[in-house]
Amino acid sequence: MFPERRLRRLRKRNLQPLFRETRLTAEDLIMPVFFDETIEEAVPIASMPGQWRYPIGDAAAVAGRLEAAGVRAVILFGIPAGKDAGAHSAYAENGVVQQAVAAVKAACPEMVVITDVCACEYTDHGHCGVIGETCSGEIDLLNDPSLALMQKIAVSQAQAGADMVAPSCMLDGQVRAIREALDAAGYAEIPIMSYSTKFSSAFYGPFRDAADSGYSFGDRTTYQMDPANAREAFTESEMDAAEGADILMVKPAGMYLDVLAAVREIGLPVAAYQVSGEYSMLKAAAAQGWLDEKTCALESLTCIKRAGADLIITYYAEDAARWLSEEQ
Ligand code: PBG
Repeated sequence: MFPERRLRRLRKRNLQPLFRETRLTAEDLIMPVFFDETIEEAVPIASMPGQWRYPIGDAAAVAGRLEAAGVRAVILFGIPAGKDAGAHSAYAENGVVQQAVAAVKAACPEMVVITDVCACEYTDHGHCGVIGETCSGEIDLLNDPSLALMQKIAVSQAQAGADMVAPSCMLDGQVRAIREALDAAGYAEIPIMSYSTKFSSAFYGPFRDAADSGYSFGDRTTYQMDPANAREAFTESEMDAAEGADILMVKPAGMYLDVLAAVREIGLPVAAYQVSGEYSMLKAAAAQGWLDEKTCALESLTCIKRAGADLIITYYAEDAARWLSEEQ
């Protein structure tokens, strides 16, 4: 009899759920949230429909709303009142993220609060750390002076009550430097989720509007990775694992699933960041009526999980958590 093998047998409607290999849950999701210390009322982010910049005063209400939707983890970004070349507001005791962390933890103690360790929202030039002249005479991000800055930022965030820190500046040695600083300050138990494999992606465009973190000269290609490089991507994550990262990350997510699947083999938990541009593309197509938003968003997240992500940072976290609970 032809065909001998009939895979459609197990696709009968009532059998399908038994053979689903990947199930997205609200626990997989981490919601990015922007806090702006220069505003009194929430401001919508034009390039990311549905996302807002919130004043610190809204932190408790936002955290409560996310918790009610089923979101268990957030990653916080700050828009400070003042920027300078040394990113002082990134590690100020009463800095915008430090205040936001404390407010979220006070309102929702069970919420996992993760902080992004980077300087690009806090420097006047918009680069991710300290700028200066390299040994070849170029003006560029200086690696080792920037490491010292990241140590201060991470420790200040842990002091504010962050559950986990997430270095995102793609400096060589960032995980070990931050691990040593946290340990020395008494935070040996705070995990590091490293943006270990972060590509220099044009899909971060809407985020740079949202966080006011665009750069004033050059680009980020001397520290973030070339999207064309998969072997180097693996090595970056492998090195961060060796430096003591607790969780690795691939960013962006949807176009880098091959990298995600490879990085998973290292053996540590892996996060994937569905970035601003991935979100805004879906939003724009849905607004035109060209794509079904809910189905496409859940499909994109399920595929990221299928490829190997244990955790997914996504601007869809709140909607997806709600959609998933409605389906049950
Ligand atoms: C900070 C940071 C960026 C993103 C997360 N952390 C911006 C960048 O590297 O340019 C991008 C997130 C997104 O696009 O959703 N360095």
